[in-house]
Amino acid sequence: MTRLSRRDALKRGLLGAAGVAAAGPLGRVAAAGQAAPPAMAHATDPHAVMTGGVPAGAGIDPLAFLTDFDYGTVSRRADGRTVRDFEVVASDRNLEVMPGVFYPAWTYNGQVPGPTLRAIEGDLVRVKFVNGGSHPHTIHFHGVHAADMDGVFEVIQPGGTYTYEFDADPFGLHLYHCHTIPIKKHIAKGLYGAFIIDPRTPRPPARELVMVMNGFDVNFDGKNEIYAVNTVPFAYQAHPIPIRTNELVRVYLVNVLEFDLLNSLHLHGNFFHVYRTGTKLVPDEFTDTISMGQGERHIVEFTYTKPGRFMFHAHQSEFTELGWMGMLDVRDGVEAVD
Ligand code: CU
Ligand code: CU
Repeated sequence: MTRLSRRDALKRGLLGAAGVAAAGPLGRVAAAGQAAPPAMAHATDPHAVMTGGVPAGAGIDPLAFLTDFDYGTVSRRADGRTVRDFEVVASDRNLEVMPGVFYPAWTYNGQVPGPTLRAIEGDLVRVKFVNGGSHPHTIHFHGVHAADMDGVFEVIQPGGTYTYEFDADPFGLHLYHCHTIPIKKHIAKGLYGAFIIDPRTPRPPARELVMVMNGFDVNFDGKNEIYAVNTVPFAYQAHPIPIRTNELVRVYLVNVLEFDLLNSLHLHGNFFHVYRTGTKLVPDEFTDTISMGQGERHIVEFTYTKPGRFMFHAHQSEFTELGWMGMLDVRDGVEAVD
């Protein structure tokens, strides 16, 4: 069993980004959901497993994940109150986080990040949590709620269930994650997701994208070997994100990276407005680079006036080279990209 060093990851990532060759045997095993090879196993020939940077068994489709919102099942109570019911199931799953590199993840709904849950300020939110995993877990939501809805003390054993119920408050860009000890491990393993509470008066129409900055310690040395937004390193270099000139783009940017204290976003050829934690409707800052500590979230808005390919990435160069980078493919407004 070969251990993947940061240097190996770098070499493989760059190969993947270049889009070399097609899926190999390990990719097919993961896609078929068969007995997974041990974490860290990889093919002797890295060229054999490259799929243009996006493996089949990653648990998410990085392009689809950007715009995939879970609004829950909506109903209305007799008093007119909107209720949103969600179901989140924890499970163990071996994810192919980059071609040929497997990680034994703990997931919400089989994916890392978990689904992006979305509600409107004032809704009653009910989340039925089922622990289908092999370890005790919880869901800790950021927001205002009762102590027994906090996902800290009521630890849910494998096979157990718990329903979290709270008001959607305040509006903003929040986060949910497991809060079982050791928390660092439960987060690093993949138990987290974005939680958006929209203001009652909606934000202006925009192309909305969710970017959860994360990473994986694939050799279990307490450090990340690969970095990404939305799990798959270099995914948006292999598949640039199409946007149009002159349209408003809104990024829900969440930092859940473990082991490294800081993460960041730098956007090329442009500046962006920052709404810190998304809790206000007027921007706090106009910049092209923002640093974020663990658990910080910001809404970022920008508009490109010039077409072309523009890079976005962590401004920690090492993170960039280990996978946390992507491209926006800015097209003139006449061409449909939806
Ligand atoms: Cu957990
Ligand atoms: Cu938290």
